[in-house]
Amino acid sequence: MNITKDIIYIGVNDKEIDLFEGQYKVPSGMCYNSYIINDEKIAVMDTVDKKFTAQWLGNIKEVLGTKAPDFLIVQHMEPDHSASIAEFMKEYPRCVLVSTQKAFAMIKQFFFEEYENRRIVVKEGDTLSLGENELTFVMAPMVHWPEVMVTYVKNQKVLFSADGFGKFGAFDCNEDWTDEARRYYIGIVGKYGVQVQALLKKAAALQIETICPLHGPVLNKDLSYYIEKYDIWSSYKAEEEGVVVAYSSVYGNTKKAALLLYETLLKKGVSAEIYDLARCDKAAAVAAAFRYSSLVLATTTYNNCLFPCMREFIEELTERNYQNRKVGIIENGTWAPTAAKNIKKALEECKNLEFTETTVTIRSALSSDNISDIEKLCGELV
Ligand code: FEO
Repeated sequence: MNITKDIIYIGVNDKEIDLFEGQYKVPSGMCYNSYIINDEKIAVMDTVDKKFTAQWLGNIKEVLGTKAPDFLIVQHMEPDHSASIAEFMKEYPRCVLVSTQKAFAMIKQFFFEEYENRRIVVKEGDTLSLGENELTFVMAPMVHWPEVMVTYVKNQKVLFSADGFGKFGAFDCNEDWTDEARRYYIGIVGKYGVQVQALLKKAAALQIETICPLHGPVLNKDLSYYIEKYDIWSSYKAEEEGVVVAYSSVYGNTKKAALLLYETLLKKGVSAEIYDLARCDKAAAVAAAFRYSSLVLATTTYNNCLFPCMREFIEELTERNYQNRKVGIIENGTWAPTAAKNIKKALEECKNLEFTETTVTIRSALSSDNISDIEKLCGELV
C-alpha cells in the first residue's frame, strides 16, 4: 500500500493478541507499522514484533523483489518494533543500521551485537540522503523510551512519529481514532507529558501533511485535530467538562451511592461516565479520568485503608501525573470510615487538585443525610 509516491506500508496486524504490553486489552487487535522509503537508496523504517518477522520480511520482498534495503532506521527499541532487527540484518548483510547512541546500547543488550561496521549513529538534526528524499532525525526522548527519535522527510512533508499518534487496534480496524488513541496515550505515554510537549514544539516548526506512526492508521487529513488532542493530553488539561465516577463496592451500598450520583449528574445534563473498578477495563477508567474535568472516588474502607482496586486505580493516576482536576469523595465504613483521609493522602503529591467541600460519609447503608449530601456534591461538581 502506497502512503505517498515513495513511501510504502509494510506493517503487520496482530489479531491474536489478548494483552498489549502484557496489560492493555486490545479487542480490535494491534498493528506494528513499518514502512519502506523507496528511492535511489532504500530505507526501511523500524521492524515488527517477533511473532511476525517472517511475514514482515515477506512484505519487504514483495515490494523490493530482488533489491535490498540500504538502511534500517530504528526509531524505537521497544520489542514490538525492534524484535526483528537481528533477523533482518542477517537477511540483508549489506544493510546499515541507523539509530541513536542510546538505541545501539539497547541493541547490544537485546541481540548481543554491536554492528560496528554496519551502523550510523545519529543525533538531533542529522540528515541522511536517499536521493530525492532526505531524512532528518529529531530526538524524542521518553516518547516513549529514552532512545526514541522521530524522522522527518521534508520534500514529502511526512513525519514518522514512532509511538506518537499511535492507537490500539489493527491497521484495518474500522473504529474512531480518539477513544483508543486516548487510552493508548494515557496508558503508555501519559507520564511523559513534558517530553511530549517538547516534541510537539519541535514538530510545530515542521510542515507536516502526513504522520506515519508505529501503531494505528496513517494520518493525512485534519492533522490539527490530532495535534490538538496530543497538546491537551500532554499538558494534563481536561479535554471536556464532565465527571467520572469510579467506585468499588463490597455489598452494594457504595455502588448505590455511586449510581445515585451518576444518575443525578445525567439528569442535570452533565457528561458523566461510571466505572466499577473491580470489573471494568482499568485503562479505560484511567483514560476517562484524564478526559474529564472532575472525578469522584467512591469506596469502602478496607484494612483501615482503601479497597485494593481503588488503591491501585489511584496509583495508576498518580504515576501518570494526574493533576488540574476537581475531586469529590464518597467513603463507606461501618465502624471507622477512613477512606476519604486515605484518598487525600494518596493524592497529596498531585498538582492543582481541588477537593469538593462535601465529602459523603456512609456508615454501612445510604441514609437520608447521605442522599442530600450526594445532591450537594453534584452541585459542587458542576
Ligand atoms: Fe510501540 Fe513503545 O512501543
